[in-house]
Amino acid sequence: MTKILLADDEESIRNLMRMTLELDGYEVSMAEDGTRALDIFEKEKPEIVLLDVKMPGMSGIEVLSRIRGTAPDTEVIMITGHGDMDMAVECLRREASNFLTKPISEELLSLSLKRAMEKIALKKKLKKYTRNLETLVREANVELERAYQFRENIIENSPDAIVCIRKGGEITIFNSAAEKLLGYKKHEVVGKMSIVRIYPPGGAKKIMKALRADDFGGPGILQKREVTLIDKDGNEIPVYISAAILYEEGQEAGSMGIFTDLREKLKLEKQLLRSEKLSSLGKLSAGIAHEINQPLTGVLTFAHLLLKKFKNDEKTRKDLEIIVRETTRIRGIVQGILDFARETPMQKKPLRIQQVVDQTLEIIVHQQRFFGIELVKLYDPSVPDVVIDSNLMKQVFMNIVLNALDAMGSSGTLTIKIGASNGWVEVDFSDTGKGMPEEMQDKIFDPFFTTKDSTEGMGMGLGLAISYGIVKNHHGDIQVTSKPGKGTTFTIRLPLDAA
Ligand SMILES: Nc1ncnc2c1ncn2[C@@H]1O[C@H](COP(=O)(O)OP(=O)(O)OP(=O)(O)O)[C@@H](O)[C@H]1O
Ligand SMILES: [Mg+2]
Repeated sequence: MTKILLADDEESIRNLMRMTLELDGYEVSMAEDGTRALDIFEKEKPEIVLLDVKMPGMSGIEVLSRIRGTAPDTEVIMITGHGDMDMAVECLRREASNFLTKPISEELLSLSLKRAMEKIALKKKLKKYTRNLETLVREANVELERAYQFRENIIENSPDAIVCIRKGGEITIFNSAAEKLLGYKKHEVVGKMSIVRIYPPGGAKKIMKALRADDFGGPGILQKREVTLIDKDGNEIPVYISAAILYEEGQEAGSMGIFTDLREKLKLEKQLLRSEKLSSLGKLSAGIAHEINQPLTGVLTFAHLLLKKFKNDEKTRKDLEIIVRETTRIRGIVQGILDFARETPMQKKPLRIQQVVDQTLEIIVHQQRFFGIELVKLYDPSVPDVVIDSNLMKQVFMNIVLNALDAMGSSGTLTIKIGASNGWVEVDFSDTGKGMPEEMQDKIFDPFFTTKDSTEGMGMGLGLAISYGIVKNHHGDIQVTSKPGKGTTFTIRLPLDAA
């Protein structure tokens, strides 16, 4: 039942109105002055209040103000004297819901209350609706946040580097893979660095041009192209780029690029090419070398015989000596090729790699050419045994040490580091020699590639090719890093589970 508070100082009016109200089905409380009206209001919280404007003590207007202050939703209907228009206006100004003038007819009272009830119902409905709306908005926000997080996660955890930029080039997104690829941290680039910096000079412009043209997947899209990036240390990094222009409401807002690191792929391709080249060369040359070896032995034998015969004829002897020397050189080369193409089975057994390296060093450290060289050994004593053919491995180490000595000349430092990690034993030979440019590093494992003067029978360009073949046969690999003028490091890795 709807509660009504009725405040009027005239008892007869109170009783009369009460009758009408109770007949209409309201629960009525009554007050004879303003103070009492407020008391009852506080206690019972009626939804509708009927207030006489003029009451002794606290006036109806004052009560209206107080109710509005604490319960603004209450329907407050003011009762004014007949013709007191100013008062009526004042009531409305203070946000009375309605006003009635005395004498009050039953019908008008019923009608006003019906309206008040309708208003209350409407307000309730509105409130509920607003509450629902708020919940809906809240839920939508949560959903939106979740979707946003999800997208963020995808971007952040992508194995490919993702970089987004605003129009103008400022970087806005830089995921973990991008950090790894380029060496910058997010906080160094987001909002601070231009995309131009991750390309070589002019590179960014070229990409944007290709992106806008329609020959690479349509305007606004660039599909998988090989480009070079520059990392924080200035290194060039080959990558595939796929990129797209980002639009916001039809306007170009920025662009995004996805970068796939190609270093590993290129390295594998190079290795594959090398081993194919080596194995076909091995097969071919082994055959030829065998064929050459026999007549060569004949030539040498007869040259030696002639040398004996003409040992007193100065001029002929000199010519013959040249024949012997050059033929000996050819025999060296042929022997090298035969070694390179060796098909004899390997004799592998578990060995301490430190010992094999030391045995190799033992052969050369006492030679004159080692005198000006400082030797530094950084051996991890805990390295497990590796299964190797010790003669062949010694040949590898020897080749590399001799190359290092050649590169350093009369002075320098040779550092040999031996360690193990992740199932591999690693042997590093670092020299402080003349080093080599990048384009040369690609060729040094090719058979017959040499920069050395080969009149002495040395420098056939087979040392590294043979070493490469031997290490590959041990299922290992051999790599080089070098800086011209600084030095070179050869790294040989051998698997611990060589079974
Ligand atoms: N440590 C090094 N520092 C600088 N350059 C090197 C080094 N090791 C190898 N090289 C370069 O690689 C080339 C090829 O080396 P490789 O051992 O295959 O042949 P080589 O030493 O020239 O001849 P060979 O070993 O047959 O006597 C060398 O001629 C040299 O130019
Ligand atoms: Mg060599």
